[in-house]
Amino acid sequence: MREPQPKAVHLKDYAPPPFRVETIHLDVDIREDHAITHAKLAIRRNAAGPLVLDGDEVELVSVSVDGKKPRYEATAEKLTVYDVPDAFTLETVSRIVPQKNTKLEGLYATKHGFVTQCEAQGFRRITWFVDRPDVMARYTTTVHADAKRFPILLSNGNLIASGAEAGGRHFARFEDPFPKPSYLFALVAANLEVLREGNLSIYVEPGTLDQAGWSMDCLKRAIKWDEKRFGLKLDLNEYKIVAVGDFNSGAMENKGLNIFNTRYVLARADTATDVDYLNIDRVVAHEYCHNWTGNRVTCRDWFQLSLKEGLTVFRDQEYGADTYSRAVTRIQEVRSLRALQFPEDAGPMKHPVRPQSYLEIRNFYTTTVYEKGAEVVRMQHTLLGEDKFQAGMKLYFERHDGQAVTCDDFVQAMQDASGVDLEQFRRWYDVAGTPVLDCTGDYQDGIFTLTVKQSMNPPFHIPLAVKVGEREQVLSLRKTEERFTFPAKSKPVPSLLRGFSAPVILNYPYSEDDLLHLMARDDDPFNRWEAGQRLAADIILKRDGKPSTAFVEAARNVLRDPDAAFVAEALMLPAETFLAEQMDVVDPDRLHASRNALRRALAEGLKEQLRKTYESSTVPGPYSPDARSIGKRSLRNLCLGYLGELGLSRLADAQFRSADNMTDAMAALATLANLDCPEREPALAAFYEKWRDEPLVVDKWLSVQASSRLPGTIARVKALLSHAAFDLKVPNKVYALIRTFAANHVRFHAADGAGYAFLADQVIALDALNPQVAARMARAFDRWRRFDSGRQEKAKAALERIRDTDKLSKDVAEIVGKALA
Ligand code: BES
Ligand code: ZN
Repeated sequence: MREPQPKAVHLKDYAPPPFRVETIHLDVDIREDHAITHAKLAIRRNAAGPLVLDGDEVELVSVSVDGKKPRYEATAEKLTVYDVPDAFTLETVSRIVPQKNTKLEGLYATKHGFVTQCEAQGFRRITWFVDRPDVMARYTTTVHADAKRFPILLSNGNLIASGAEAGGRHFARFEDPFPKPSYLFALVAANLEVLREGNLSIYVEPGTLDQAGWSMDCLKRAIKWDEKRFGLKLDLNEYKIVAVGDFNSGAMENKGLNIFNTRYVLARADTATDVDYLNIDRVVAHEYCHNWTGNRVTCRDWFQLSLKEGLTVFRDQEYGADTYSRAVTRIQEVRSLRALQFPEDAGPMKHPVRPQSYLEIRNFYTTTVYEKGAEVVRMQHTLLGEDKFQAGMKLYFERHDGQAVTCDDFVQAMQDASGVDLEQFRRWYDVAGTPVLDCTGDYQDGIFTLTVKQSMNPPFHIPLAVKVGEREQVLSLRKTEERFTFPAKSKPVPSLLRGFSAPVILNYPYSEDDLLHLMARDDDPFNRWEAGQRLAADIILKRDGKPSTAFVEAARNVLRDPDAAFVAEALMLPAETFLAEQMDVVDPDRLHASRNALRRALAEGLKEQLRKTYESSTVPGPYSPDARSIGKRSLRNLCLGYLGELGLSRLADAQFRSADNMTDAMAALATLANLDCPEREPALAAFYEKWRDEPLVVDKWLSVQASSRLPGTIARVKALLSHAAFDLKVPNKVYALIRTFAANHVRFHAADGAGYAFLADQVIALDALNPQVAARMARAFDRWRRFDSGRQEKAKAALERIRDTDKLSKDVAEIVGKALA
């Protein structure tokens, strides 16, 4: 049966908290099969009415106000205390069961102990509290646990006391000098090993210390970078990172005590790929950057999530651009934005960067809030320039340090510090959808006129970076239709939306020759890449994947470019999810066949050159994840993939056997996994035998099989569900196998509906354990209405089966409800 419709939360209903919590003394006593939490809160009244506290699966043992029993009412999720004075001490004692917490939110068990995850609303699963980000309190936390099994005890702030207790137990007490919202609280009681350098510590599971060095390098680099580029210093005596294998998302910025998924901490040349190394660098920097953008200045309410996430993604992107190649970093960001965020912004879960309502906030940690939010910050950077943008950041911190604020406060600081009028710009925060810019060009008598029409009504303020002839500038679009003129000696090919200066779809009637010209000669590397992508998209969507000779020659020319990392990006074809958005009715089989046909045609046309590039791009010496080496390896492996299209499986097998690093081994294995060849099965089996005890490498083994384009993939994925390597309770396993399969466009959208039925089964099974992860999986159904009626019918049946499941979570109900609406 369906549950009654849960109530939506609306931004317009925001009101300041009626009570503030000034201090909290929290005592957490972890026992064999439960934990007791004792909370002592100093509370002050802000408005009339009873005190209402949040709770979730916390069993109330006792409650007192100034030492006396109050009149109160307790339901599963609210504790209402009546007749409280204007200032008082509230004490509660509660019982929780972290050992049985499969949601991995609040306090839960991981392989070697206990950790917390509180964002967004996990603190209420530890104790009764006013669990909202605009209530900022000073925390003193005491943890008790068995000394032998859980030697490491940690919480936010400074250690102020510790010692042994009766029965082989011990305790530690921490005081956090910074007032903070409850979502930044963290606690750890576990058996871990530590890598320490000065005031920086990285705690990892026993036996993995030799994989922690890279993340320590990243942390040190991020600290230096934030000081140099943003003038922001580390404000803590101690900065700790704890890595655990059981974690719903990537990492969490708890004040002074970040908790990470192992996949964003652990790396060794033979276990982690270049992409893993880069991701670790970015995630470590991201969480570090939150210390200022998120922690020192936090969000007033969860609708403002992009205030911290969009801004911090922008900051970690800039860290990446300053540390590696700016051009390649930008290309990768845009590829992922268009493959993931554009479809989201056109589907049933579309929402503004600042959403106006939600049923479950966990569902709004989206690519729109994160990546489009980062684009919205980037556009302000583009409109203001680096110096004025930095002046805006400075003013933002002067005004709001220690406060919980809104996206408006951020834009206001940018506007006031720069003198640039950003009133119209604010629409980017509140209106969903990807703007379309329809552009045309007209050349007459030495003047080129560019006409730009935008789809948004009322119009958005859009920075459009262009270069026409020799003139390069950022046009500030503010009207529905605008004209710009440029002197030119002959009809120019305009370079538009340089560096992807705004997250829009730009149409311009470029001819094939125009695009070939831009692909070869534009001095903006992003637009050189973009021209190639436009040509490739056209060939796939309109010419069944059959390229012109000119295109093959243009690709040959690209291969001669000395920037290996750029070449690898330029010869990578657009993603199927991105191309699907450009079809009226998505035909995944035709799309896949056309894309493969183009890959094969390029491989045939460029065979010799690919071979030569493959051979000349070896990286000498021991493995190193520097930009140059990474670029060379990605080009070499791109060549291997293309050569695989010609059936050169022996080349891939040779590389698989001789590789001395995981990047080359995985690239070879992925090539083999896509080919129906005799080397395939032995390679997969050997890989598992070698790595069965390294969970993160086993994840790669699962996903390389789930992403195979071969028709047997779904059967393989189903069989893997009962393999020892898989565990539905561990999010990393679910992401590796189930999410990877759901992202396998041609196999997930199989005409017989088997992919849909499979995913429905998994979402239903997962929902009973971990609704947050189940809801993320359910998002794969978002675009079901874009397919033919046969597929639609099957997807709809799968969605309805999920919807009609007994005791469905709010998380999944929201996603499925919107998909079916
Ligand atoms: N604050 C988030 C962690 C988080 C995510 C909490 C989802 C609650 C729900 C953290 O700063 C974050 O954004 N992590 C990202 C990685 C980052 C590099 C974009 C993640 O976990 O995916
Ligand atoms: Zn974040």
